[in-house]
Amino acid sequence: MIIICDKCKTRFRLDTSLIKKTLFKVRCSKCKHVFSVDTSPKEDVYELKQTNIEPEKKVITICNHKGGVAKTSTCLNLGTSLSMMGKRVLLIDFDAQANLSLLLGQKNEFSFYEIVQKEIDILKVIKNVRTNLWLLPSNTRMALLAQQCLQQKDFGFFLRDALKPIKDHFDYILVDTPPSVKFFTPNALMAADFVIIPTQCEFLAMNGVLQTENIIKAVTKTHVLDYRVLITLFDNSNTASKVIYAKLQKKYESKILKTIINFDSKMQESQIVNEPIAYYDDKALSARQYHALAKEIEVL
Ligand SMILES: Nc1ncnc2c1ncn2[C@@H]1O[C@H](COP(=O)(O)OP(=O)(O)OP(=O)(O)O)[C@@H](O)[C@H]1O
Ligand SMILES: [Mg+2]
Repeated sequence: MIIICDKCKTRFRLDTSLIKKTLFKVRCSKCKHVFSVDTSPKEDVYELKQTNIEPEKKVITICNHKGGVAKTSTCLNLGTSLSMMGKRVLLIDFDAQANLSLLLGQKNEFSFYEIVQKEIDILKVIKNVRTNLWLLPSNTRMALLAQQCLQQKDFGFFLRDALKPIKDHFDYILVDTPPSVKFFTPNALMAADFVIIPTQCEFLAMNGVLQTENIIKAVTKTHVLDYRVLITLFDNSNTASKVIYAKLQKKYESKILKTIINFDSKMQESQIVNEPIAYYDDKALSARQYHALAKEIEVL
């Protein structure tokens, strides 16, 4: 975690896994100031309060058939921005790669696998990771779910059913999905009220959006699931990006979110230290853009 000296405001990275206590003292190596650090979660998952807010877009699934388009980064950073606006946000790592869990420094935790196959209470699996922000982590055992459950009746409703008892605890539930279509994406789409399709402005990525649209239609045959396309990893200096952006705007019109997320090296730095960008550097371009996205999603 990042620790900031109370006195000189120098930022340090501290490996808290080496420290047994949750409340301890540290000495700043720059100004020698001694101050207390409290790493205990600020709220306990068993003390979740009911929220009366029932936004139409409570469960937002973030998906794109194409890999590496910033699905996980969007889930983490949009969720963080919403949580900083005072919303109670649950992030669901619904990908056996467990990248979302890794970005939050969570490893080898229980996951949706244990909820389904070992009947562990979902509230025991959900962890409070920041103020107003919770995580349902993933682990590599999640990969077994696809094999073990595909034959089961109603396998596409596992996530929707698991969320029913806890939905009232949160204002938003954001689901990160893998690029593959098997098991996870259909489950995440059946649980969703709304979908965000992140995409880069690249020629092949346009095809990814089209495929994802078709997957949404194929999975949700009985109802219409609304979606928006989010431009990510945008490079202002790249002419091809601008051309593809214009094409996407023409094709998808109002389905394209106004907020664009630029390529930002600060985002990559933040991921090295397991911090959402807004906690790492709230002034960074991508932090400001994810805040703007959160506001845009709020009023959609
Ligand atoms: N705004 C950004 N600026 C710079 N790099 C970014 C930004 N957003 C994401 N990245 C980087 O792009 C890469 C892909 O991001 P991410 O893992 O979020 O994509 P993904 O769609 O979830 O990938 P996968 O399909 O494998 O799950 C990562 O290395 C991440 O650090
Ligand atoms: Mg991902």
